[in-house]
Amino acid sequence: MVRYTWAFAALGCVSPVVSALTYESHPERLDAVAEAFQRAWNGYYTYAFPNDSLAPITKTSYNDRNGWGASAVDAISTALVMGNKKVVNEIVDHITTINFNMTSPDDTSVSLFETTIRYLAGMLSAYDFLSGPLSDLLDDPASLDTILKQAVSLADTLSVAFTTSSGVPINDLIYNGPEGPVPDRTETTNGIATIGTLVLEWTRLSDLTGDTKYAELTQTAEDYLLNVRNPGVGEPYPGLIGTDVNVTNGLFVDSSGGWNGGTDSFYEYLIKMYLYDTARFAEYKDRWSLAVDSSIKYLASHPSSRPDLTFLAAYEGAGPANLSFFSEHLACFDGGNIILGGLTLNNQGYIDFGLELVAACHDTYTATVTGIGPEIFQWQDSKLAPNATNNAAPPANQSSFYETAGFWITDPVYDLRPEVIESFYYAYRATGDSKYQDWAWEAFLHINATCSAGVGFSSVMDVNAPGGGGFYNQQESFWFAEVLKYSYLIQAEEAPWQVSAAHDNEWVFNTEAHPFRVAGTPV
Ligand SMILES: *[C@@H]1O[C@H](CO)[C@@H](O)[C@H](O)[C@H]1NC(C)=O
Ligand SMILES: *[C@@H]1O[C@H](CO)[C@@H](O)[C@H](O)[C@H]1NC(C)=O
Ligand SMILES: *[C@@H]1O[C@H](CO)[C@@H](O)[C@H](O)[C@H]1NC(C)=O
Ligand SMILES: *[C@@H]1O[C@H](CO)[C@@H](O)[C@H](O)[C@H]1NC(C)=O
Ligand SMILES: *[C@@H]1O[C@H](CO)[C@@H](O)[C@H](O)[C@H]1NC(C)=O
Ligand SMILES: *[C@@H]1O[C@H](CO)[C@@H](O)[C@H](O)[C@H]1NC(C)=O
Ligand SMILES: *[C@@H]1O[C@H](CO)[C@@H](O)[C@H](O)[C@H]1NC(C)=O
Repeated sequence: MVRYTWAFAALGCVSPVVSALTYESHPERLDAVAEAFQRAWNGYYTYAFPNDSLAPITKTSYNDRNGWGASAVDAISTALVMGNKKVVNEIVDHITTINFNMTSPDDTSVSLFETTIRYLAGMLSAYDFLSGPLSDLLDDPASLDTILKQAVSLADTLSVAFTTSSGVPINDLIYNGPEGPVPDRTETTNGIATIGTLVLEWTRLSDLTGDTKYAELTQTAEDYLLNVRNPGVGEPYPGLIGTDVNVTNGLFVDSSGGWNGGTDSFYEYLIKMYLYDTARFAEYKDRWSLAVDSSIKYLASHPSSRPDLTFLAAYEGAGPANLSFFSEHLACFDGGNIILGGLTLNNQGYIDFGLELVAACHDTYTATVTGIGPEIFQWQDSKLAPNATNNAAPPANQSSFYETAGFWITDPVYDLRPEVIESFYYAYRATGDSKYQDWAWEAFLHINATCSAGVGFSSVMDVNAPGGGGFYNQQESFWFAEVLKYSYLIQAEEAPWQVSAAHDNEWVFNTEAHPFRVAGTPV
């Protein structure tokens, strides 16, 4: 074990140290995570590259991200922070060959959101690392410029998505027709996560190239989410907004939301934009605080069988009768994001609330047979009447599980998702408490034991069945980008890209865990 001491002073306070955190690195754990990365990479590179994803059991490939080599591009920033030079250069060589004007014929619908968070972000993060602190890892310096040119080529091709009368983009583009990529105009609305999780990547691209048009496109769209034009429908609680926006006029079409998939990373990026540049994105920080304050006030919910746990409810309009007491693995990023905001804004209340959410998501792992949490789960709220129509009791065959666990499982899949370990990472960086490193290590061991399959890792059908209940034979690209990165960084030595509690953050992670260099004063 290697021990580091990190001192930090309160923001705006000239008196010296008010508190000190101690971080420890665990080389043997790092080796185990690096082994998993190399094994998954070897399987992918041997049997699936340059297609998107590995089917590890059949040793075949499939294209689920348009055939541009999603697993490779998504893996690059993890290979970088692990110092895996060979893999870094294999991926760089690939990036220089991609033609973003065409897709693989077996996958021709391009998601603006997925393409931005995985491909565009992977390339921008690689550019930031290879032009900065990890430049030693690049074999051919000439390829650095090509990486940025490829990012520009991709964004130029995707820009047609913003050609709507409001400027709110259409998420899906149809490729390979005679007229080139065109927005799928049968989509008349777009969701706040897919609209609101572009602004970090496209702003970074503008800042790196000096061409403001990419930032402008995404910030124009984001403005409809920051300043809701029809708040009676679109903003049922202060700062907590609806899900779908009409791309013609920018008006919200519903009052549903929360921190689950479909809305999640819109909130995540509000505080990350402020971290990226405090001067330009102060309004985003204010909206984030408003949303978190409302979440604490209106959405925090404790299961009737385990009032010690805290989850965030979803809503379909204002008022307790409109709450839905379910959450998701995807939503478990919430604790980590609220901790990050607490660190950034010097707000211990946010940090404490985030730690409560992290503990409850940890419980979703420890309660199951595999030690891995489910895709979707539900609970009965302890404060609302047990006979309220939106406060159902668990089904009979899960009531004893609910009594001890505090939730029951409504979708038992594990898709190699990162959010629970991601939040352990932020909890550790904020507190220095080695408990969170142990939680991440135990989660990694359980995932490694359950999901290792064939020549890589596979999603599993049932986290509460022995062995995970069977494999789907699919290895998502975010396994490389996120699970393995957070599992590694939480055990790793200090580095400039590690999240810091000392108000000196020089890097911010996109929603796919690709670190970008911040543009403003570190905060
Ligand atoms: C990649 O996908 C294409 C199109 O489906 C297929 O023809 C090719 O054999 C695949 N390559 C690998 C390495 O799996
Ligand atoms: C892709 O399309 C753009 C815009 O039409 C063009 O400038 C570029 O050269 C094309 N790239 C390739 C690799 O075909
Ligand atoms: C979007 O707004 C346009 C223009 O007001 C309207 O014609 C259309 O019906 C709306 N679509 C939806 C899905 O609300
Ligand atoms: C639930 O939300 C709907 C839609 O916003 C609203 O009309 C209704 O009044 C809400 N119900 C309660 C009990 O607040
Ligand atoms: C719930 O139970 C309370 C107390 O028994 C009763 O007054 C109320 O009418 C019930 N509500 C519903 C929706 O059944
Ligand atoms: C509980 O019962 C339902 C309905 O019969 C069934 O679909 C579900 O698989 C069962 N769940 C468990 C965990 O046994
Ligand atoms: C991870 O799983 C692989 C394959 O089963 C195994 O060889 C390795 O020892 C495991 N790592 C740890 C740390 O348990």
